[in-house]
Amino acid sequence: MLEKDIKKVLVSEEEIKQTCIKLGKQITEDYKGKDPLVVGLLKGCMPFMTELMKNIDLYIDIELMGVQSYHGGTQSTGDVKITRDLDIPVKGRDILIAEDIVDTAKTISVITKLLKYRGANSVEVVTLLDKPAGRVVEFTPKYIGVTIPKEFVVGFGLDYDEKYRNLPYVGVLKEEVYTK
Ligand code: PRP
Repeated sequence: MLEKDIKKVLVSEEEIKQTCIKLGKQITEDYKGKDPLVVGLLKGCMPFMTELMKNIDLYIDIELMGVQSYHGGTQSTGDVKITRDLDIPVKGRDILIAEDIVDTAKTISVITKLLKYRGANSVEVVTLLDKPAGRVVEFTPKYIGVTIPKEFVVGFGLDYDEKYRNLPYVGVLKEEVYTK
């Protein structure tokens, strides 16, 4: 049913799986001897963080933070709102923020600065998707799954008006869906 609203599949289920294996291996290697705190930014991070975690072979802790900047539309408002904060202090921790997408990079810049301000030892970002053509704020995530063109994508955590997060792949939404 959801598929009829999708113009094309951009990142398939299999590609997502392989990407998470690759990222997980790299993270496991880079954080050897450390116990990183993986912080997922809700709600978009859910499927990606779940898939990624399985491929990290370290004593990680996980935390979730609720952050919103799109407020339902197809454009970031730039107004980053924390809807749920972390349950634990981050002082001295090596933090890895898990994101579904970095687009304008406004969200990730705000949250990275906040966690550094709170005393984290290091803050890095792992994102399933990177859309460099969308940048408003300069930012390069350390770990990037797939670089995508400037198209509005949904699925695997990404929404349009809170829908389509449950698609098992990342696809381009038909324009008629958000212009009607
Ligand atoms: C989306 C996405 C990222 C952010 C990226 O979140 O999950 O957190 O936007 O966009 P940016 O680089 O332009 O800031 P959204 O605010 O839509 O909330 P959600 O995770 O609940 O979908």
